[in-house]
Amino acid sequence: MVVDSTDVFDIMGTMRAMRRLKPDPVPDALIAKILRAGTSAPNGANTQRWRFLVIKDQEIKKRVQVIYKRAFDEVVGPRYLNSAPPPGVTKEKYLRQHAAVEYLTDHFHEAPVWIVACLEETAPPTRMSGASIYPAVQNMLLAARALGLGATLTTRHLLYEKDSEAALGLPPGVHSYAILPIGYPMGKFGPVGRGPLSEVVYQDRWGNPYRGV
Ligand SMILES: Cc1cc2nc3c(=O)[nH]c(=O)nc-3n(C[C@H](O)[C@H](O)[C@H](O)COP(=O)(O)O)c2cc1C
Repeated sequence: MVVDSTDVFDIMGTMRAMRRLKPDPVPDALIAKILRAGTSAPNGANTQRWRFLVIKDQEIKKRVQVIYKRAFDEVVGPRYLNSAPPPGVTKEKYLRQHAAVEYLTDHFHEAPVWIVACLEETAPPTRMSGASIYPAVQNMLLAARALGLGATLTTRHLLYEKDSEAALGLPPGVHSYAILPIGYPMGKFGPVGRGPLSEVVYQDRWGNPYRGV
């Protein structure tokens, strides 16, 4: 995997969650490029009900960070302590991930820019709703990575959705689906850790190995 390549497969293969970010400002021109990548994504019937809140205001970010940390202390932290490393990830790497998750928890508000990905909804969200915003989220993560910016897809604030959305100042009918803290990374991009395709891909019948991999 080539880390400084612009090939889309290399970008995808090295687009790790970058949780340690420098506080240095990110030019608006780059954020605009990331947002344009977001709105290039597929969305149901092309209704484009996505809305993006760019947050630089330290006070607003801090208000949400307090909720994000509460969710770590009460739910996510204990879960991490009791779970085994996922496929393709060594115990040592998993412990490093845990430390990075804790770091982001404490420094969430220090990321210079957040993009909050939202949907304007006329009916209560269903299982299909996220399908019209997460492609945009993924495009934005890939665009940030291609521009040398670090970012992480986060949804933990939704564990306390009402408090978080009040802190974000979202109007009625608008729901947030992810917060992307974005900034210049402290560390280096590198290959993502994933299990082999043979364990997750089947052919024709569930459990029947797909011979193409
Ligand atoms: C739906 C979803 C929610 C996530 N929420 C968080 C989060 O709240 N905080 C966080 O630090 N990472 C979050 N992540 C990032 C994952 O932890 C990360 O993608 C996973 O551990 C794999 O690591 P990698 O992307 O660096 O390979 C989330 C990812 C997804 C897809």
